[in-house]
Amino acid sequence: MVQLSTSVCLLGSLFGLLLLMPVLKALTPASMCTPLKTLNDSLHHRRRYMKHNFPINYTIRVHQKEVFKLSTINRMRLQVEGLEDLILQRLWFRVNQGVLKKIIRVLPERHPSRPYTAELERRFRDAEGVFVGLHTTEVCDDDLPETIAEIWDHLTEEPNRVPESRWRFVTPKSLLDNFCHTMLCLFSDCFDSTEAHQDYCGVSHWRKGRKKDLQPES
Ligand SMILES: *[C@@H]1O[C@H](CO)[C@@H](O)[C@H](O)[C@H]1NC(C)=O
Ligand SMILES: *[C@@H]1O[C@H](CO)[C@@H](O)[C@H](O)[C@H]1NC(C)=O
Repeated sequence: MVQLSTSVCLLGSLFGLLLLMPVLKALTPASMCTPLKTLNDSLHHRRRYMKHNFPINYTIRVHQKEVFKLSTINRMRLQVEGLEDLILQRLWFRVNQGVLKKIIRVLPERHPSRPYTAELERRFRDAEGVFVGLHTTEVCDDDLPETIAEIWDHLTEEPNRVPESRWRFVTPKSLLDNFCHTMLCLFSDCFDSTEAHQDYCGVSHWRKGRKKDLQPES
């Protein structure tokens, strides 16, 4: 049974690969852009809800791999030859699902940021639903490049088995900054404005006048 599903999966991914070959840098399907733009609209208010409503320097404990930044993406692209955006996009969904869950977990029922975060999570799930619907056949878990598979395994670790050294303490605002910046980078087709081609994956794009929001490299 396992054998069967593995070979079906392999076959499926081979097919997917063949279909994808000519458009390896495939454009993000338009149906994906609508929920992502909605998500971006929400994220636009992150300073108010993730900074002003929290005590100064308030941090949340997250897994090291959940600190998923532009530099993380750029590093992975260098490390893994021919890394497809699709794989990074899947990872993005996986990571931010965990991030949102952790933020919601620290918010008491009546916290002023609670409705905002709940809405954000709803919109995120909408986007995820579309993404999964579009890509059910292309990629299977066992196709992941080793580096990515390792990250995946870390993210699914039982929390009480994660060694102390793998936890990071990060402000909620910083987590959502990463969430937003990496979304614009990985789904840049949806956000390219007609005026100028923006390099959303360039770290410097976000540095302008935002020094005080930056978190130390981890
Ligand atoms: C994200 O949403 C905000 C608020 O709606 C908008 O001002 C901004 O231009 C959007 N960003 C991109 C890259 O489209
Ligand atoms: C918050 O963190 C900054 C930078 O680490 C530090 O300079 C500042 O004193 C902290 N503020 C409070 C209220 O703890």
